[in-house]
Amino acid sequence: MRATPPGPKGVPVIGNTQRFARDPFSFLSSCRDAYGDVARLSLGGDPAYMLTNPADIERVLVSEERKFRKPMLNDDIRDLLGNGLLLSEGDFWRRERRRTQPAFDMRRIAGLAGMMTDHTEAMLGDWADGEAVTVDTEMARLTVKIIVEAMFGVGFDDATVERMQANLEPLGRHFEPDVLRTLVPDWVPTEENREYHAAIETLEDILEGVLAERRGTERDLPADDGIGGTDGVGGIDANGNQPMDLLSILLRARNDDGDEDVDDALVRDELMTMLLAGHDTTALTLTYTWYLLARNPAIEAELHAELDEVLGGRVPTTADVRDLTYTERVLQEAMRLYPPVHMLFREALTGVRLGGYRVPKGSLLVLPQWAVHRDPRYYDDPLEFDPDRFASDRTAERPNYAYFPFGGGPRHCIGKRFSMLEATLILGTVAQKYRLELAADEPIDLRGSLTMHPTEPIEAIVRER
Ligand code: HEM
Repeated sequence: MRATPPGPKGVPVIGNTQRFARDPFSFLSSCRDAYGDVARLSLGGDPAYMLTNPADIERVLVSEERKFRKPMLNDDIRDLLGNGLLLSEGDFWRRERRRTQPAFDMRRIAGLAGMMTDHTEAMLGDWADGEAVTVDTEMARLTVKIIVEAMFGVGFDDATVERMQANLEPLGRHFEPDVLRTLVPDWVPTEENREYHAAIETLEDILEGVLAERRGTERDLPADDGIGGTDGVGGIDANGNQPMDLLSILLRARNDDGDEDVDDALVRDELMTMLLAGHDTTALTLTYTWYLLARNPAIEAELHAELDEVLGGRVPTTADVRDLTYTERVLQEAMRLYPPVHMLFREALTGVRLGGYRVPKGSLLVLPQWAVHRDPRYYDDPLEFDPDRFASDRTAERPNYAYFPFGGGPRHCIGKRFSMLEATLILGTVAQKYRLELAADEPIDLRGSLTMHPTEPIEAIVRER
């Protein structure tokens, strides 16, 4: 067995951090091309092993997942997401995953379609032919409204969504790779660190408003705090049926079943996790989809043909989604080229062999969707936008885990079916009426943080079809 995998040369102390921070995307792809299945990187001064062979990725996420855990890359992410589902581990995670699962039950999710399309139609009510829109902002506003109604049983008005969005920016910036952060300890009160903590406080304040609304407690809120109850989806319904939104599940566990583990801190952490994990990723999927459709008119025309045939002008329902096969492929292919979560991290709990190399206990593993989804070994013309790659005969030709936008194994995305239904309904509802024409011709630049964002807002003109 070979001892150490090959990898790029680094500079003292910071290793490859500078190259990674300057352009993580070309860095990941060039390491894949230069070093193959396993590359040894040096990020933040520590060695990291990047895996691009789907079989190795499957071992880490699925078949040998017990040998790995999510690493604590940075204490600051704990300040944000606490012990919510994304970060918790072991028995605690298992219990919470089981507890929250009913909120994602397919029968429940199917019943949310009308709420999802109502919000989409309300957005379209504000659009008009020839008007300019910022695609990423529109998609994020829409997906926030949907996630808070689906998971918390409340509605946010536009001002609350805007307040939230304004505070997501400093959060995103905080997790961009940065050489300086490698060298400056987290406790140093830089301007950026202060902004980050202020943003968390604002989001916590918004979540407190959600709790106050749902508990109906007295709280010294401004006359209109921008958070209101909703009459169906998540709110306590009049027939005495148990609402299965996430917040209702947590509050019942605490109040009715007296489960002391569900304390204020856990409720805060789960709400924060769902709010952040549950809207940004779907908004990005849709943003990249609009971008790709606008640049690929033949594919856009094929999408329109399917929508016209299946829906004929109707608002799509859950039952239609089964027939919107091309629409689904468009979304899958957009997530291949632009995976909203562009890399996953794991820590080896024991020494392991990967790709013929010994990877020591405690090593950081990088599983880069970005580099694997664009690997010419698994995709012909990998940079081409070609939704038919997801036709069943062609997916069968690829190894499992050559595509993993939602991760895999026990820690796979709990919101996968929710977000696919949501994205299909939104794309179907909007694309029946409108095309989005990009204001600029140039390809977009990307920045990597916890998720992968366009560097600049994507501006477009709304065109009636
Ligand atoms: C296109 C949309 C989405 C993408 C691409 C996406 C991607 C992912 C990925 C890659 C993971 C695995 C992380 C890891 O293994 O380290 C994950 C986990 C997770 N996602 Fe998503 N996600 C999406 C939508 C959603 C939605 C809508 C929700 C909530 C409603 C959600 C909530 C979560 C949670 C709570 C976890 C942690 C699950 C666990 O560890 O048990 N995601 N997601």
